[in-house]
Parts: sequence; structure tokens; C-alpha cells
Amino acid sequence: MSFIVAIDGPAGVGKGTIAKVVAEKFNLINIDTGATFRCVTLEMLNKNIKLDEEDKIIRLLTEINIEIKKVEGEDIVLLNGKDVSLEIRTPKVNEFVSPVSTLKIVRENLLHLQRKMSEGKNVIVEGRDIGTTVFPNADVKIYLDATPEERARRRVKQNIEKGIECSYEEVLESVKNRDKIDSSRETAPLKRAEDAIYIDCTKISLEELLNRVFEIIEEKM
Ligand code: DC
Repeated sequence: MSFIVAIDGPAGVGKGTIAKVVAEKFNLINIDTGATFRCVTLEMLNKNIKLDEEDKIIRLLTEINIEIKKVEGEDIVLLNGKDVSLEIRTPKVNEFVSPVSTLKIVRENLLHLQRKMSEGKNVIVEGRDIGTTVFPNADVKIYLDATPEERARRRVKQNIEKGIECSYEEVLESVKNRDKIDSSRETAPLKRAEDAIYIDCTKISLEELLNRVFEIIEEKM
């Protein structure tokens, strides 16, 4: 038996931060599905594969090996055995990842991988379509939301902490652009599942948000 917490919401809303703390508190494995799309994107960029080169994308998907591992308390992302945790978060990948994630073939392939990564485990899975498509029967479904301006402000802060250079205007534009692509795509768009608990995090503190999420999970466990 496994216990599944699904966390969905737009770019930069804080899903990653929440998932990390919740995973530690409830001893769950944290699965960042965005990282899987980012790995495919990075590999396409490295191999100079364009969005319409379906044969090349199919080959890439059969050859690629994506793993998320815990090393010294940190989740690291391995692409064909190489640690790409930082490389998958550069502006170049940010720009290209939403278009890549609209591709049906990529989504189908990664859907299997995301389910396999979670099989038989107690997990917290974060993304855009977890409550609607990847785990429609998840035990807990939470949808986090915030204004694009607030999300851009948080992303800039996060990037600075990670040593990634960026400007607020650039990040805001990228956030808005990704919202548009993520919510309007045909396959598994960013959408709140009907039975997901909606939390607007624009004005609440991280502490308040965490307490709310803890309560929701404790009730279901
Ligand atoms: O959560 P993130 O910012 O790392 O996600 C990067 C991109 O991946 C996002 O713009 C859309 C896509 N994505 C998706 O389509 N479905 C998911 N479950 C997770 C991410």
C-alpha cells in the first residue's frame, strides 16, 4: 500500500519548498516531476533537437535515464548518471521546458516514469497534472496558487540563494509565458482537480501555508 500526496500549481508558487518540508516531516519520498521534463529539455538542447523532430525525440526518450536520488539529505537529479540538478534550472531550460512539455510523446513517456518512480512508496509528488492525470486517486490533493508577480519575486529570491543570476522583469515574463503554455496545452494542462484543496498563497506566510498543509495531510493519514 502506498500513500500519495499530489501537489499541483503554476511555476514558482513554492511547490518545491513545501514538498521538501512535507517529505521530511511525514517521511515521504519527494518526486519533482518538473525535473523529469527539465531533463528531457536539457538533453534536447545538448543534442540540438528541435520540437518538430519527432523521430529524434522518440530515440532520445528510449535512451535517456532519469533518476532522483537523495545524497546527504539533498535530492539530486541524475541525467544518464550525471548530476544535472543546477543545469536543469538555467534560463535556457526555463524558456524551452514549457514547449517541450506540450509534446504528447514526451508526456506519455514521462507519465510512465513518474508512476514507476512512485510505485509502492509513500510519496509527495509535485507538478501540474498530478491530481488530474498522473495520480487521479491520490490520497491528498492540494492545488497551490499565487499571482505571477508574487511568484516571480519568490523565484528571484530562490535563484539568488542558488547563485543563479536573473532580473525580476525577466523572471516575471518567463513565469507568465509558462503559465500561458502550461494551462492552454492540449494534453494534461495545468488545472486544479475538482477534488483538490485550493490554497491561495499570495498573502500567507510560509509558516501558515505549511501548517495548513500539515493539517490536511494529518487528517488523511
Ligand atoms: O515545476 P517546474 O517549474 O520545474 O516545471 C517545469 C515545466 O515542466 C513546467 O513549465 C511545465 C512542465 N511540467 C508539466 O508539464 N507537468 C508536470 N507535472 C510538471 C512540470
